[in-house]
Amino acid sequence: MISIALDGPAGAGKSTVAKGVAKDLGFIYVDTGALYRTVGLHFIRKGITTELKCDIESELKEIVVDIKFVNNEQRVFLNGEDVSEQIRTPEASMMASAVSAKPPVRAFLLDMQRKLARENNVIMDGRDIGTVVLPDATLKYFVTATAEERANRRYKELIEKGMDVEYKAVYDDIVKRDYNDSHREIAPLKPAEDSIIFDTTGNTLEQSVELLKKSIKERLD
Ligand code: DC
Repeated sequence: MISIALDGPAGAGKSTVAKGVAKDLGFIYVDTGALYRTVGLHFIRKGITTELKCDIESELKEIVVDIKFVNNEQRVFLNGEDVSEQIRTPEASMMASAVSAKPPVRAFLLDMQRKLARENNVIMDGRDIGTVVLPDATLKYFVTATAEERANRRYKELIEKGMDVEYKAVYDDIVKRDYNDSHREIAPLKPAEDSIIFDTTGNTLEQSVELLKKSIKERLD
């Protein structure tokens, strides 16, 4: 099986780029952030705040997280309920970042991610795919862009979805998440030593998709 690890900070364009590449290569696109968001949604629903003053292990015992592919598109389930849309709010982003720093949460989601890569050709998007989840991935990319550009893209995306957000709040969230994700003790966001750095600053997402496809094809051939 072929696996392509695509790590990088929030808003770098990983998901759009990975979807385009997956379609082209006939691979499945796995968005691992959605799994952390699904776990986070459970905590939000329980009224727990991002300080996570609770017994994480016993909360995890209450939930089953599933991932399914419908027409090649990933859907995520929390105790059988499809929550693929509910996890896309700024609140769910911050909670995902908070829960993802907790070792029991990372352990809870690890096997599911590895199993998907054992059974399918995958392009997997996350923060620790090349470093922890799939250290033997066929190819590893670290996709990045400046915080301003990432905030801009995320802001436009949320506005297009009809959400009432301000640019400054989106920018502050991105900076805060970058800090959380790269300073946690377990599986912090950082490029794997053997990863290829792919900077999308100044490119449109379409250009980034084309450039990444070209790079992957050259390397797989
Ligand atoms: O990719 P995303 O923005 O949907 O991810 C949400 C959060 O989940 C992110 O802030 C950090 C965490 N995450 C992680 O720790 N490891 C991954 N492989 C994917 C996401």
